[in-house]
Amino acid sequence: MHKNSQAAGVLRTRQKNPVKVIAVCSGKGGVGKTNVAANLAVALSRKKRHVMLLDADLGLANIDVLLGLQPCFNLSHVVSGDVDLESTIVRGPQGVRIIPASSGSFVMTDLSDVSQAAIIQAFSNLADQPEILIVDTAAGISPSVARFVQAAQKAVVVVCDEPSSITDAYALIKVFSREYGISHFQVVTNQTHDSREGRELFTKIRRVTDLYLDVVLQHLGDVPHDAYLRRAVQEQRAVVDAYPKSVAGQAFLQIARRLDQLPVSAEASGGIQFFFESLLNVNPVCMGRET
Ligand SMILES: Nc1ncnc2c1ncn2[C@@H]1O[C@H](COP(=O)(O)OP(=O)(O)OP(=O)(O)O)[C@@H](O)[C@H]1O
Ligand SMILES: [Mg+2]
Repeated sequence: MHKNSQAAGVLRTRQKNPVKVIAVCSGKGGVGKTNVAANLAVALSRKKRHVMLLDADLGLANIDVLLGLQPCFNLSHVVSGDVDLESTIVRGPQGVRIIPASSGSFVMTDLSDVSQAAIIQAFSNLADQPEILIVDTAAGISPSVARFVQAAQKAVVVVCDEPSSITDAYALIKVFSREYGISHFQVVTNQTHDSREGRELFTKIRRVTDLYLDVVLQHLGDVPHDAYLRRAVQEQRAVVDAYPKSVAGQAFLQIARRLDQLPVSAEASGGIQFFFESLLNVNPVCMGRET
């Protein structure tokens, strides 16, 4: 039997409305990926978008802790046939649908053909297809993270104004562009003093990438350091939900508006299962990233 033919066998008719998939990454850990992913998901849900948030950080429970949720199941239970996909989905603020992280032993990008088929089938059968899927990835530049970013249409890189964050963001852009063919990156500057510092930080990074790499970088927005965000984290709430008028809350709402306006790439002809087909390499289609 041809490799992946079982999974390929479940390829279904393409959805009319393609899903916009946004992967959030950073290189360095602890810079704010999960907050960016969760707050953008909640902010877009406020705009009545159908949003799904996938926790792809296998190492630690992230989004569920951040949002004070207690999920019972994850995708590994779908693969083992214990529950259906709907049972794993947890509702967050503004009705955002969250697919919780699986344990470290469940590596989605390293599944058998049968398990891949189960995942793709489950998403293909999802009654209420999302318009936007936001993926929160693990820190670092592992092949697994790269695959998530490669299969998405928009790569959002979160960076802070400190040497290790800048160096790691540059390393991620270098590796992902040279080894995975990802050419467009949306940068979110985070934990800055103000938006001017954010713009300067972005300019500093783009100056270097313009010199040495063949990539297009855009500044998606800036989220200043905000005590209200930390307070929201303590309360296990998203800052856009708990304190929408705070500086960080307003910044996320503005970034969400920009993200919403970015076009879905022309090649993205399918629904959410199409993303999983690309991710699992069932039907390797290079989905071009647009600015
Ligand atoms: N704009 C901000 N203002 C104030 N504090 C912030 C801001 N962004 C992030 N933080 C702080 O940084 C912490 C880490 O954020 P977060 O968990 O989103 O990072 P991460 O990149 O997802 O980390 P990991 O790599 O471990 O997954 C938060 O709990 C919060 O205390
Ligand atoms: Mg995180």
